[in-house]
Amino acid sequence: MSRLRVAVLFGGRSSEHAISCVSAGSVLAALDRDRYDVLPIGITPDGRWVLAADDPASLAIRDRALPAVDPTGTGLALPGDPTAKGLVVLDAGEVPADLGAVDVVFPLLHGPYGEDGTVQGLLELAGVPYVGSGVFASAACMDKAQMKRLFAAAGLPSPRYAVVRSGRPVPPAVRDLGLPVFVKPSRAGSSMGITKVDDWADLDAALAEAHRHDPKALVEEAVAGREIECGVLAGLDGTPEASVPAEVRVTGGQAFYDFEAKYLDDATEFDIPPDLDDETVGRVRALAVEAFEALDCEGLARVDFFVCADGRIFVNEVNTMPGFTPASMFPRMWAAAGVSYPQLVDRLIRDALRRGTGLR
Ligand SMILES: Nc1ncnc2c1ncn2[C@@H]1O[C@H](COP(=O)(O)OP(=O)(O)O)[C@@H](O)[C@H]1O
Ligand SMILES: [Mg+2]
Repeated sequence: MSRLRVAVLFGGRSSEHAISCVSAGSVLAALDRDRYDVLPIGITPDGRWVLAADDPASLAIRDRALPAVDPTGTGLALPGDPTAKGLVVLDAGEVPADLGAVDVVFPLLHGPYGEDGTVQGLLELAGVPYVGSGVFASAACMDKAQMKRLFAAAGLPSPRYAVVRSGRPVPPAVRDLGLPVFVKPSRAGSSMGITKVDDWADLDAALAEAHRHDPKALVEEAVAGREIECGVLAGLDGTPEASVPAEVRVTGGQAFYDFEAKYLDDATEFDIPPDLDDETVGRVRALAVEAFEALDCEGLARVDFFVCADGRIFVNEVNTMPGFTPASMFPRMWAAAGVSYPQLVDRLIRDALRRGTGLR
């Protein structure tokens, strides 16, 4: 039996480049080489596709130093043409003999230019099956303002918000939200550009910070709730299934689950399962599947919630390509549900092949 050719796509142009590298290192380490022929493809911060070393160790965070794609690899491109049958080499010089068609792509990219439908659009054009959500769901989940409109249309409660565009006046609806508020880029991730504002005097600086990442920012009412996350994974026929949920508790000095707390400091604890009653856990899992379906997600997603003491549950966001290291929430929640990291990778690849490309 010939091995399946899997291209692992990582790095990318967004501010989450390094986190994508870390996720990719773990997936490269987990792919069973007896069954998969693995082609690691890095995307540099300026968007060049390069053949990368198959070396998971080089993609880890070491001494707070973040990994990045080595830009010196052979330049590649995937033409958006299904008759071209795979990758082409852009650089002159040595051409790897085995480069060409791939059976499936694992786009382990976070943030804009990767998790937002752009790469998914290219893969659709090229006719190459890929792991995870398609163009629409990827784009919708990347843009928090649009995501929240779809939540509202599906009757899913989410914190109130107002959109503030760069260079345009702050709409009066912002102050109606009441303090504190969270100010965030509409299209970013890993808590980049997010500020908690306790005093309106700090609003402009917070908006400027969010606008550094995205000219479209969101101001959101702060919800005093526990942060609960739930993984969703497509079953054999594509029907979404919810994982064991988890609680994220920030135990360091951070005011919220910010970038430092997420990746650098030993400042976060995860409770899997969370210390919640069965009824609440059941509601969280049902809402996770509802959110997944409301946004037309495919393959996998991590749905994040705020669970309040009075029993209210808000959906914060859906991540179509959640952090994917063995230490990340998504794989850990599935491990608690009995699906190991290598099994998770296998299931996602199988699901991508089952769906294929095109309207579905
Ligand atoms: N409305 C809110 N109420 C309370 N905390 C919030 C709110 N919005 C964001 N946060 C905090 O900021 C973190 C990151 O915000 P989030 O919207 O999830 O952005 P990202 O896509 O960068 O993860 C959350 O995990 C939470 O700790
Ligand atoms: Mg988040």
